[in-house]
Amino acid sequence: MYRRGLVGAYSGNTSLRLTDAGDDSLLLVTPTHHPYYRLKADELVVVNLEGEPVEPAPMRPSSETRLHLEIYRRRPDVQAVAHTHSIHASVAAVIGLDIPPLIDEMLMTIGGPIKVSKYAFPGTQELAEQAYAALGDRNAALLRNHGAVGVGPDIWEALEVCDLVERLAKIFVLARNFGPRAASPLPEDAVATEMQMFQDNR
Ligand code: 13P
Repeated sequence: MYRRGLVGAYSGNTSLRLTDAGDDSLLLVTPTHHPYYRLKADELVVVNLEGEPVEPAPMRPSSETRLHLEIYRRRPDVQAVAHTHSIHASVAAVIGLDIPPLIDEMLMTIGGPIKVSKYAFPGTQELAEQAYAALGDRNAALLRNHGAVGVGPDIWEALEVCDLVERLAKIFVLARNFGPRAASPLPEDAVATEMQMFQDNR
């Protein structure tokens, strides 16, 4: 996320389910307020489904752990969550407009429009719930006046979803420079076909 410019050194966070042990009861989460360029593997924090570290950890888990937990609780299919602050996604989140189906790969990867959540204060359970309300059964959402969240069946897919969200937001914002109706959505039959492809690949 950091190398791709999707976050600043101290912003965003990511997590995955630790399923190797045969259960879904532990998560690996990035530590709070620690720059990515200095992050080492043993500084990642293992937490339970209440967000509490399971062993004495050198760092505290991300302040957005509630956001990650809410998504894992509501979406058993999700194995990894990434929260980014990329620039164009944040612009769309500030404008407060859902990104409509614009480009074919969007539907097949994200499963529909990218909706903007209602604003909630960072780190709160309210933010977690508003984020899930915007995410639904799709793979990405924008967090109002904040950033983006992407999910996937593994950490690499969640990263690619966030990368795609940023590119789509950039296309959306640039297209809107040509007028409010210039970001014209895909034809309805293409949307229907691609949504079916998304469902078939789940
Ligand atoms: P953390 O460093 O606590 O993960 O918070 C960063 C952030 O982006 C909060 O939204």
